[in-house]
Amino acid sequence: MKGTFPIDKFQEIQTPFYYYDTDLLRRTLKTINEEAGKHPGFEVHYAVKANANPKVLNVICQAGLGADCVSGGEIQAAINAGFPANKIVYAGVGKSDWEINLGLEKGIFCFNVESIPELEVINELAGKQNKIAQVCFRINPDVGAHTHANITTGLAENKFGIAMRDMEGVIEEASKMKNIKFLGLHFHIGSQILDMGDFEALCNRINELQNQLEAHHIVVKNINVGGGLGIDYNHPNRVPIPDFKDYFDTYAKKLKLRDGQKVHFELGRAVVGQMGSLITKTLYIKQGTAKQFAIVDAGMTDLIRPALYQAFHKIENISSDESVETYDVVGPICESSDVFAKAIDLNKTHRGDLIALRSAGAYGEIMASQYNCRQLPKGYITEDL
Ligand SMILES: Cc1ncc(COP(=O)(O)O)c(C=O)c1O
Repeated sequence: MKGTFPIDKFQEIQTPFYYYDTDLLRRTLKTINEEAGKHPGFEVHYAVKANANPKVLNVICQAGLGADCVSGGEIQAAINAGFPANKIVYAGVGKSDWEINLGLEKGIFCFNVESIPELEVINELAGKQNKIAQVCFRINPDVGAHTHANITTGLAENKFGIAMRDMEGVIEEASKMKNIKFLGLHFHIGSQILDMGDFEALCNRINELQNQLEAHHIVVKNINVGGGLGIDYNHPNRVPIPDFKDYFDTYAKKLKLRDGQKVHFELGRAVVGQMGSLITKTLYIKQGTAKQFAIVDAGMTDLIRPALYQAFHKIENISSDESVETYDVVGPICESSDVFAKAIDLNKTHRGDLIALRSAGAYGEIMASQYNCRQLPKGYITEDL
């Protein structure tokens, strides 16, 4: 089954472009609010890194989610879209002074801190602004995730986070600093995780760490478990909304919460992945010796995931109902890795046909580049058409 698209309206738009189905986005957000809302203390932040299109951010902000940012630019984008500063958390292994200052000036809720040198700088800059910075420490839980090696982040050798053995020392350091208030712990084990067992493993680790801290009378108010819930790239129509019930229920069952504790989630891909498609036009059908290539006008500059992670995106010819043939779908960029898919079935494709690369709402438009002096793709939401 193919997706349904407003194809007549697409004819007027310069390709390649991103199309965001805001009806699906709103239904996804409603499901998130309903499922998270069943568990007291659960609060969801949207990971802006997945898609920072201002119109998309605005819809997410209207649904009441907070924002998880990893740069000063993202803090600014979140504020511009209307997210209240006290619902913004800021993570990142290398925060520059201007970014920390911006977070302090805006009064964001929390800095997720990844090292003592960073903590010292935040303390110093907060002192200069006469402010108290609330911090969580990103702990590396040494929990593997069953996902692509480039997007697993919770193993001991990753650059992210503070080692578990250093956790108490860092909290102790923080308690001596005048302009720092310790709030809690932060984790993130990776992305595109579909096995709830990985999140259970994280919960078990958090339970151990909490017991350890409690034994030293250290109070943890907030636990931020990061993001990572995956989407079904194979079946964007059959599974347009991820299983948020299973996801939040897993945390509710497995995490041993203390009274009044808050659990923060930072979901990116699961919020926006399925509502986006990259729409591209077929330029040429080229017959190779053993294959035929559909050369399209989008390339790895518009959607880098297949070249970067060998990621799969379902591809559909939305202009044709003719019987299927086998194609390699490739872009125009001067790189041999500029291939979206090899040997896939598409309805017989002709020059001018529109092709949809599905499930491209997360880590698509936001990762686009201008390599080869190309224009950045534009993003359109349903209401624009
Ligand atoms: C710290 C942190 N939180 C949240 C996310 C969002 O992850 P996802 O899009 O898989 O939900 C990421 C992604 O890299 C991250 O690094």
